[in-house]
Amino acid sequence: MQTGRHFLQIPGPTNTPLPVLAAIAEPTIDHRGPDFGKLGRDVLAGLKPVFGTEGPVIVYPASGTGAWEAALVNTLSPGDRVLMFETGWFASLWTKLATRLGLEPEFLQGDWRSGVDAERIAARLDDDRAHGIKAVCIVHNETSTGVASDIAAVRRAIDAAGHPALLMVDTISSLGSIDYRHDAWGVDVTVAGSQKGLMLPPGLSFNAISAKAREASKAARLPRAYWDWEDMLAVNPQGFFPYTPATNLLKGLRVALEMLAEEGLEKVFARHAHGAAATRAAVRHWGFETQCRVEAEHSGSLTAVRLPDGHSADALRASILEHSNMSLGNGLGPLADRVFRIGHLGDFNDTALLGVVASVERGLAAQGIPHQPGGVDAALRVLGGNAGPAVEARATG
Ligand SMILES: Cc1ncc(COP(=O)(O)O)c(C=O)c1O
Repeated sequence: MQTGRHFLQIPGPTNTPLPVLAAIAEPTIDHRGPDFGKLGRDVLAGLKPVFGTEGPVIVYPASGTGAWEAALVNTLSPGDRVLMFETGWFASLWTKLATRLGLEPEFLQGDWRSGVDAERIAARLDDDRAHGIKAVCIVHNETSTGVASDIAAVRRAIDAAGHPALLMVDTISSLGSIDYRHDAWGVDVTVAGSQKGLMLPPGLSFNAISAKAREASKAARLPRAYWDWEDMLAVNPQGFFPYTPATNLLKGLRVALEMLAEEGLEKVFARHAHGAAATRAAVRHWGFETQCRVEAEHSGSLTAVRLPDGHSADALRASILEHSNMSLGNGLGPLADRVFRIGHLGDFNDTALLGVVASVERGLAAQGIPHQPGGVDAALRVLGGNAGPAVEARATG
């Protein structure tokens, strides 16, 4: 039995704000009635600015993995080649999913510590004179490593090669947290999920689609039924769905979209970037490395922290859970027990961040992991406000 509230600081699912929870708790309504039509239209319109698109956004009652699959089965045919880039665990999973669907992914090797190398993509597409590669699939924010890739640079690489491949981008841990522009960056399919920057529980996922992607779907021959965009697009304009939608999650989504619009996306992105910078200041002060080793590629939504050799990240997380009632993300795949991940996305503020930093430092001490104490002061120096200069003065004077 733990007192006080639990601190869910994994990189998604994130904390759901009370107004969103309240909307989800409302009575379920008739999903073919007039009230639902308005809800559907509000949500479908409200999603567009978040994706940075004027085009349609498809909403599935599914986790993000469903939206990965939907992006591929709507646009591609058996045996099609797709170019993917190994940013980390989630890029690897999307590649495995593509293989299981009967596609032929080419996986450009990465180091799990940096983002997509657009020049290597350009070089590979340049070589593909016969245009056998049908899509380039990129994870914008690799949740296993805390590395964000430059999507505009990938678009430029595709254009420089004069290659017609579709560009598909997974924004599951970046949408609503890190600047993202479906239309401006010429993305054909954007994949997203409800449980991170959108501040909802898991259960909804999304495909934003370009006119080119919709055109490609006409000739695509992978089998599709549940995921078919056209069934959705036929009834979405009236606010309806071809099968029973996740009614109450959509009620929550309407409120979450209103909250993002009220704060303003620019401010939302700046808040995330600021929290990420303060987190990194604490990590460096402790004397640890982040998993991301390219300064400009650090994610705004999470930070993956490497522990020194011989220390268990899982034991540290268990100690923090027991003593501070706080969940942190585990290391995935080869990073298991080496890395822990701090989620600083969604419904999050400076005070929560200071709680995270203090709790991690408490765990480091409890586990006997050598570190320089004072992470909270280091974070405060970045957060600024009243504490910033005072701390600076104390540190120097
Ligand atoms: C970047 C990324 N892609 C895909 C997924 C898979 O989404 P889901 O677990 O909702 O199916 C996740 C989950 O965390 C993710 O972070």
